Amino acid sequence: MLKDKKILIAVTGSIAAYKIASLVRLLIKAKAEVQVIMTESAKEFITPLTLSTLSKKPVYFSFYKTENGEWNNHVELGLWADYMLIAPASANTIAKMSAGICDSLLMATYLSAKCPVAFAPAMDLDMYQHPSTQENIEKLIAFGNEFIAPGTGELASGLSGEGRMAEPEELLAFLENKFNPSNFYSQKNVLVTAGPTHEAIDPVRFIGNASSGKMGYALAEAFAEKGANVTLVSGPTNLKINHPNIKKIAITSAAEMFEAVKANFANSAITVMAAAVADYSPTHQATEKIKKTTDNLQIALSKTIDILQYVGEQKKAGQLTIGFALETTNELVNAQNKLKSKNADLIILNSLNDEGAGFNVDSNKITMIDKNGQIEAFELKSKNKVAQDILQKITQL
Ligand code: CTP
Repeated sequence: MLKDKKILIAVTGSIAAYKIASLVRLLIKAKAEVQVIMTESAKEFITPLTLSTLSKKPVYFSFYKTENGEWNNHVELGLWADYMLIAPASANTIAKMSAGICDSLLMATYLSAKCPVAFAPAMDLDMYQHPSTQENIEKLIAFGNEFIAPGTGELASGLSGEGRMAEPEELLAFLENKFNPSNFYSQKNVLVTAGPTHEAIDPVRFIGNASSGKMGYALAEAFAEKGANVTLVSGPTNLKINHPNIKKIAITSAAEMFEAVKANFANSAITVMAAAVADYSPTHQATEKIKKTTDNLQIALSKTIDILQYVGEQKKAGQLTIGFALETTNELVNAQNKLKSKNADLIILNSLNDEGAGFNVDSNKITMIDKNGQIEAFELKSKNKVAQDILQKITQL
């Protein structure tokens, strides 16, 4: 699981730092690449020589390599890592992480890291229980950092209680778990839109489309089955869905879909826009039923908000946005343009020229175009199987 994975271990000043020697040894045994960085005070607890020998790499602790005037590039370190584990995380470092104080190579690397970050606190029980420490930990979790709870037991102070850093074997299991593809979706927040939108002309008429919602519902189900927390924003469909991991928000119009997506997007690691959103909506909605009085009737339409484009503009590092493109001509070029203009990570193209693909059928034939320029065409399959292919692709992204 950890073979060739790049693990950045950040060690801070706590007696539990000695346990990191065992962790590094276990990681190297599991064929991971390990880079250790330390704070100055961590060196009081374990020597850089021990950790550099075990990790087979020099250990970094300052911005500068004093002997030749070079500097240790924290941005590069943050980009290099697949995972950053701050262990032991002292009360002091947790406070700095919560406030964004950048006074060491370790803090600069944490603040610039693009990879997921976990922290394993280690401290005396009173320090751990102090409301400021607890508030800082809450804040770090809200920032998206993973918290590895300390155990209860005898502490270095002689006291007994909560504050003991997780054991090296537990830290190894935690990291292995992170790289286990079958756990990828567990507890992840996923936002899926599905179905058509109905844009009201008057109280009884609307502009709609033939989308059944089947693709979006199949995706929501597939994510939920893999343990994700799914929010499904659905336009009017006849489909039923009942899964403990799926929260359904029923909407009617593009404007309502936009509001529901906006409210749930910031909290979602993955957003898939499978809905067939109306591009135009009647500029004015008649409050009474329009009577048949004239030979010609013109309805003025105004553009709706492009929701996929909106989430593409708003997304932060670590969030993925995925869209569909239903095309009839110049399929691939149009889909590639949508990928760019909507700043999406992946576009799933289906062509109405392919029999069995598109609206209101149980099958689909897709081509996936990702942000790295990779294009992959798939056979005609059931929408449930297509959903599996899409989930598989997302784990690679
Ligand atoms: N989409 C959206 N909001 C809109 C229109 C579309 O979020 N107002 C999303 C769809 O859910 C889909 C993707 O954008 O994931 C592409 O939709 P599509 O209708 O194929 O493309 P459009 O951007 O509407 O462009 P065009 O109609 O010109 O092909």
